[in-house]
Amino acid sequence: MIRKFRLGSPYDTNAVITPLQAESIWDFPFNPAVTDGCFEFSFLMRQDDIVYGLGEAVRGINKRGWIYESYCSDDPFHTESKRSLYAAHNFIMLGGSGCFGIFVDCPARVRWDVGYTQPDETRVTVFAKDFDVYLITADSPREVVREFRSAVGKSYVPPFWAFGYQQSRWSYHNADAVDRVVRGYDEAKIPLDCVYLDIDYMQSFKDFTVNENAFPDFKEYVSAKKEQGIRLIPIIDAGVKKEEGYEIYDEGIKNGFFCKNADGSVFEAGVWPGVCAFPDFLKPEVRRWFGSKYRYLIDMGIEGFWNDMNEPALFYSANGLNAALDEAVDAKGKNFDLGGFFHIKDVFTGLSNRQEDYSSMWHSIDGKAVNHQDVHNLYGACMTRAAGEYFAENYGEGEILMFSRASYIGAHRTAGIWFGDNHSWWSHILLNLKMLPSANMCGFLYCGADLGGFNDNATRDLVLRFLALGVFTPLMRNHSALGTRDQECYSFGDAGDFRDIIEVRYRLIPYLYKIFCAASADSEMIFRPLSFDYLGDKIARECETQLMLGDDCMIAPVYEQNVSGRTVYLPEDMRLLRLSGTRVESSELKKGIHYVDVALNEVPLFVKKGKKIPLCQPALRTRDLKTDELEFV
Ligand code: GLC
Repeated sequence: MIRKFRLGSPYDTNAVITPLQAESIWDFPFNPAVTDGCFEFSFLMRQDDIVYGLGEAVRGINKRGWIYESYCSDDPFHTESKRSLYAAHNFIMLGGSGCFGIFVDCPARVRWDVGYTQPDETRVTVFAKDFDVYLITADSPREVVREFRSAVGKSYVPPFWAFGYQQSRWSYHNADAVDRVVRGYDEAKIPLDCVYLDIDYMQSFKDFTVNENAFPDFKEYVSAKKEQGIRLIPIIDAGVKKEEGYEIYDEGIKNGFFCKNADGSVFEAGVWPGVCAFPDFLKPEVRRWFGSKYRYLIDMGIEGFWNDMNEPALFYSANGLNAALDEAVDAKGKNFDLGGFFHIKDVFTGLSNRQEDYSSMWHSIDGKAVNHQDVHNLYGACMTRAAGEYFAENYGEGEILMFSRASYIGAHRTAGIWFGDNHSWWSHILLNLKMLPSANMCGFLYCGADLGGFNDNATRDLVLRFLALGVFTPLMRNHSALGTRDQECYSFGDAGDFRDIIEVRYRLIPYLYKIFCAASADSEMIFRPLSFDYLGDKIARECETQLMLGDDCMIAPVYEQNVSGRTVYLPEDMRLLRLSGTRVESSELKKGIHYVDVALNEVPLFVKKGKKIPLCQPALRTRDLKTDELEFV
């Protein structure tokens, strides 16, 4: 059952699509109250209750024991100490003695104190006066999720080729660099479907432009790559470069399409191209306008995009920068003690994504000025909605690949997400794993992390182990940052092990695609915590390093360095498949704890009794997969 409670007159976030009669927020059964001008509610947790949800967030599948904040943030350090990442996924669920889910449909900041202040209490603070809260009750966690997901609508299904392996880097600067990647993969006989174009394909980082020195005949080039079975996927950023004569900027100014300052002038902040203006994506006419701009690249043969910097990320504002520079000038020649030195350092490190800057940004909704803080968490989602709605209308649903960095529930109907700028750290394999079921609960099925890790230098074994998890994630993309060590699969000497891992992905694509489409159609999760399926099993309930995959399988990737395998818990008898290239080794394992050897070129998959897993022959491109010639294991 699902009930809706309302405070004030909220802006339509487009998250819930099932029409429901709103009850008064004061009838919400979890201690609604106003404290310090903010709305709060709370519920008690028994010792063995698990709290799930919050989608893309740090820490565990069980969210207990920390404070999280829904506030889309451009933060490239995904450490345990953080409260916010790029997304705002306001769905939380208690599973245990009772079972219910809560969705706070509010695009302003929301704080989730899940047993941090009071170990047995979850306290939620909503920093707004107009919003809806939904209460979902059912008999099991899986049913709560199903009920919630039916209310927010079916998840986006990308094109089939988007399940192929994808290679990215910031940046492949020109056509030669892209060619080298394709050649590198082809020579090593490693499957590949997409190569990404990061910001340097653009002219001076301007959206919907192509640098003609780097890609002299872009249309011709895109088509030549397509002939080879390779799709190029360009990035689109939220900020529009301030430059008179640049069509997008001029049109935005002429039509009043950009966010404003309080005095009505255009809000500006620096991002990659320097000073930018920010489309007011909350306005339908701005979404239609910006969405239609993707056509420029689609007409050149492009079939997929990733939307970035749409929290929105603000490197600096003129106000912030000038104040910092003034302080620096005053500081010249001073003898700094501890306080003085760290203050001046913080002035500069704190220039990006400042609260003061977000607070001085204004939107116009139905002719009314709305402060950005009240709708912050919808900004990126509305940018992606702009693209997604344009694609669906003009090219058909699921024809164009689209995924975004910032997101809000509702955006899952038109796009996927990636989990942003992680690190080449072993702990981030596990973080990636833990985000998967949480993101699925919130509707985001097409998702994945930067495999191999984005920031910092990766090692060969890390990339292999990361990829072995990535074999199962719908978005299987290796991406790394400017200035880091090469991370393409052929960059570490002998490429055989990489081929073995990625071939497993291609063998599994028909199966993974089927699970994906079914999960979208039936409001199911692809990845579930073990506790969803084995409710009374204590070890399964506490397991945070393995996941159920669809209805037949369990996955348990290796996530530590210098080990030859890992300990795996089997909640029932299962068959272990060791998959490597076209080799399949199969053995039976009894319920219980086992140490399972996993070589660097192997992908372990645990299959429940009586289930059959279809495998096809690998191919270098998804288009060459013979999806009707399946062998069953
Ligand atoms: C952001 C993105 C990252 C991209 C970089 C340059 O950090 O998250 O994926 O490579 O910007 O565009």
